[in-house]
Amino acid sequence: MMRPMKLAGDKLVFGEGALDYLETMQGKRAFIVMNGDFLKKNGTLDLITSKLAKAGIESTSFDGVEPEPSIQSVLKGAELMNEFQPDIIIGVGGGSAMDAAKAMWVFYEHPELKTLEDITPPNKIPKLRNKAIMVSIPTTSGTASEVSRSIVISDKTRNIKQGIGDMEMMPDVALLEPKLTATMPPKLTAETGFDALTHALEAYVSRRANDLTDTLSEKAVLEILKYLPLAYEHGDNLLYREKMLTYSMVAGLAFTNCSLGIVHSIAHSFGAVFGVTHGLANAIVLPYIVKFNFDCEAAKAKYDVIAEKLGAENLYDAICSLQKRLNIPPRMKDVINDDEKFEKYLDLVSEKSIADGCTKTSPIIPDHPTMKELVKKVYYGE
Ligand SMILES: [Fe+2]
Repeated sequence: MMRPMKLAGDKLVFGEGALDYLETMQGKRAFIVMNGDFLKKNGTLDLITSKLAKAGIESTSFDGVEPEPSIQSVLKGAELMNEFQPDIIIGVGGGSAMDAAKAMWVFYEHPELKTLEDITPPNKIPKLRNKAIMVSIPTTSGTASEVSRSIVISDKTRNIKQGIGDMEMMPDVALLEPKLTATMPPKLTAETGFDALTHALEAYVSRRANDLTDTLSEKAVLEILKYLPLAYEHGDNLLYREKMLTYSMVAGLAFTNCSLGIVHSIAHSFGAVFGVTHGLANAIVLPYIVKFNFDCEAAKAKYDVIAEKLGAENLYDAICSLQKRLNIPPRMKDVINDDEKFEKYLDLVSEKSIADGCTKTSPIIPDHPTMKELVKKVYYGE
C-alpha cells in the first residue's frame, strides 16, 4: 500500500511578513526555543514576542539548545515547559533549535517518557497536541525541519546521534520569513543550501519517489541550483533569500514523504564519528554519490532531465562547479586531515552508513565493500 502523504502541518505561511501570522494566533502561553542568544541580540526574539503580545499571548524563552541538540537539553527544556504550561511551542532558528523544540514537545506532552530510548524505534512517538501545538520558524534555508517529521538528537555522554522520524512530529504551523535568513554569513548559506539541494536531489531519485514528490523535488533542484550561488554572493538580496527559503521548504515537503539516500547516510556517519557538520558533510559527499548513481538507469535518466534544463554536460559536472563557486572543499581529507584516524574508523563509518535509515531508499544499495570504497573516495578524493 502506498504510504499516505502529508505535505505540511496545518498552516504554511511564506514570504515577507510571514511572522504577522503570530498576531492572529489563539492561545495563552508560548514557549520559545532557540539555539543561543543570537536571536535575542539581533531583535528577532523581541519581534516574535511583541507579535504574540498583540494576540494576548504571554511568552517565555529557552536558549540553551546546543548546535547538535542533546537529550539532556531536551529534557531540561521539557521540564521548563512543564512549569510554564504553554499551549504553543515555537522553535526558531536552524535545524537544531527546531528539532530540539519538537523533541521537547514530545516529552512535555508525555511526562512518563524519560529517555532517548523511550522515543526511539521500536518505540513510537505517542499522540501529541493534547497540551500544545508546534510552530517552526526557520532562520536558515536548509534543514526543512519546519515541514518535516524528523529530528536528530544526540546523547553526548554516550556518543550517540539518533535520527527519529514520525509524522506526529510534523509542526502545525511553519512561518518562513526571508528577512530572518538574510544575516547568514556566506559559509553558512553555502553549507545549509547544499543540505537543501541534497534533500531535493535524494528525494528526486528515491526508491519511494512518486509523481507528486517528483513534481516538488525536480522544481526544488532547479531553483536551488539557480538561487544558491546568487544568495551566496549577494546575501542581502531578499529575493534570492526568499527563493532559497521557499525551495528548501519545497524539498522538505518531498523528502519527508519519500525519504533520502546515501549522501545523507555517509554525511550522518562522518558527522557522528568525526564531528563534520551536517550541511558541509552533504556538500562534500553529494557529487560522489551522483556519479555512483549513474549506474542506476532510472536515476541517471532523472539526472539527465536536470542537466539538460541547466544546459550542462551532466549533473556531476554541474555540482562540482557549484562546489567550487561556493568554496566547498572537494574531499573530507580537507576538513578532517587525519589519515590515521580515518583508516582506524573506515569500517565503522562504512557500517554506520549502510545501517543508516536513509540507505534503504537509495537508488543503489551498496554492499559493505562498495560502501567502503565510496567512503574512501569521499575522504581521499578521486
Ligand atoms: Fe539534511
